[in-house]
Amino acid sequence: MAGLNLGPYIHDGILLLPRIITRREATLIELAPSVLSANFAQLGAEALAAIDGGGTVLHLDVMDGHFVPNLTIGPPVVASLRKTIPKIPFDCHLMIENPDDYVGAFAEAGATWISVHQEACVHLNRTLHLIASHNCEPAVVINPATPVHTLDEVLDIVHHVLVMSVNPGFGAQKFIRGSLHKIEALVQIRERRGLSFRIEVDGGVDLTTVGDVVRAGADLLVAGNAVFGHGDIRENARKLLQSARGATAMRA
Ligand code: DX5
Ligand code: ZN
Repeated sequence: MAGLNLGPYIHDGILLLPRIITRREATLIELAPSVLSANFAQLGAEALAAIDGGGTVLHLDVMDGHFVPNLTIGPPVVASLRKTIPKIPFDCHLMIENPDDYVGAFAEAGATWISVHQEACVHLNRTLHLIASHNCEPAVVINPATPVHTLDEVLDIVHHVLVMSVNPGFGAQKFIRGSLHKIEALVQIRERRGLSFRIEVDGGVDLTTVGDVVRAGADLLVAGNAVFGHGDIRENARKLLQSARGATAMRA
């Protein structure tokens, strides 16, 4: 979408309805750097650089080699990072089977928000309440192939919904544009039902996609490769956040 042309438009064959966001909403847009693409030998220093560049939430990807075909970090790494970074929210994205078995350990390690996949939870309501019982904010994630309506019964108890815009498991994948529809649908449902959950997007968010993501209505932006993959981490974070905040038409 260019400039102030705010009518419906078609992008990659998808009809999109741009929304004008307020200046207040724009300042609420937050960048959550995903350390998956960081140099793990310098994890603390690189995370701090991303925070210095404007990241206000640290996104931590937990993979078990079963729910997704990759292995990453567990509670000890989260606890170590917590010692280096005492204040900002830790957004623990659990891409694991049987997440109930690990919620307590991640809470103990310093998680602030814990998100679980709808696809991994047979008793999703119970799991979300379990997270809340450990004084963490509960959140739910949907894979690209999972429709928004599967979340109807939990939207009133989650801190945020995480819309995966790649198939989970790896960084630096191509953004799946169909996720924009899902973000827009969540905005509409939130307004219609008077709810307050936030909308996060994860996967392929970079300078070429962040504008569409923000205009669709996401306010928590996860970015791994775009922040840590190349160049200066601080500058990458700063430019991405600036692009996100400037991407949309604003009214006072
Ligand atoms: C993928 C992870 C993402 C990943 C995103 O399964 O959940 O958080 O780090 O990486 P980019 O931003 O590189 O697509
Ligand atoms: Zn993630």
